[in-house]
Amino acid sequence: MVITGATRGIGRATAHAILERGGQVIAISRNARLLEELRRENEARIRIVVADLAELEDLPSVADQAFAAFGGVDGLVNNAGMARYERVGTIQLESLEAQLRLNLMAPLLLSQLFAEHLGGRDGAIVNVSSTLSERVAPGTSAYAATKAALNTVTKALALELAPTGVRVNAVLPGVVDTDMIRAPRLRAGETPPVGEELEARVAAQLEALRSRHPIGRLGRPEDVAAVIVGLLDHPWQTGSLVTIDGGLSVAWG
Ligand SMILES: NC(=O)c1ccc[n+]([C@@H]2O[C@H](COP(=O)([O-])OP(=O)(O)OC[C@H]3O[C@@H](n4cnc5c(N)ncnc54)[C@H](OP(=O)(O)O)[C@@H]3O)[C@@H](O)[C@H]2O)c1
Repeated sequence: MVITGATRGIGRATAHAILERGGQVIAISRNARLLEELRRENEARIRIVVADLAELEDLPSVADQAFAAFGGVDGLVNNAGMARYERVGTIQLESLEAQLRLNLMAPLLLSQLFAEHLGGRDGAIVNVSSTLSERVAPGTSAYAATKAALNTVTKALALELAPTGVRVNAVLPGVVDTDMIRAPRLRAGETPPVGEELEARVAAQLEALRSRHPIGRLGRPEDVAAVIVGLLDHPWQTGSLVTIDGGLSVAWG
């Protein structure tokens, strides 16, 4: 199983879930040190590829390295992603482009590169989207748009690849407690807080996010990993957008 962004958060939990059921993992991220730490957890069943997936011209080489790692692949989890919290008036072209490249273009191009090899093997692709793709929040217009487009890509690829035996689905998590949600959300022109002020700010931010989930807690990476594994496994499921969000999407307000 190829997992992008496997060094932290949801990707790392997915790698562990795949290993627990006896699978092999090809882990991709930019951070060679964290990848090497992961590889040492199970040297027989983990291979690593160091790559910045936003560098789209490198993706064919990334795919070749992944194929070579175990002599084939049975699935792809397009998990690596980034979110920039920017309200209208502060959106930067550079950040818009970076989110488009990593959250939308890389998953589409990687899926294309892997599709032929997954065909005939009951292969599966899971794209990690977000509930923000369907229900937006202030400051997330660029990020939410990339994930909404990823949903569309998921359905289009599911349709196109079904005759080859490749299934394509997406998981839409609510707010999951990972590094991604711990970056302080700043107002326009605000100086980033440091030290205790930063800690207090992040704690308040997490509490505000938690309180929006009817089930009373933020998601854990393992919650999402379990759904990803289910989507990889289920032989009759394709073109689905599966929400896992502690009730966030059905909450009032
Ligand atoms: N956390 C949430 O609340 C939440 C909610 C809904 C959806 N999601 C989605 O879930 C996915 C995983 O998020 P997370 O919360 O687990 O994030 P995270 O903890 O920030 O981890 C992101 C992972 O992506 C990798 N990555 C980032 N930029 C990369 C790049 N340019 N090239 C290669 N790898 C890159 C990181 O590895 P390196 O830094 O080592 O490169 C890391 O392993 C994302 O697609 C995110 O949009 C998250």
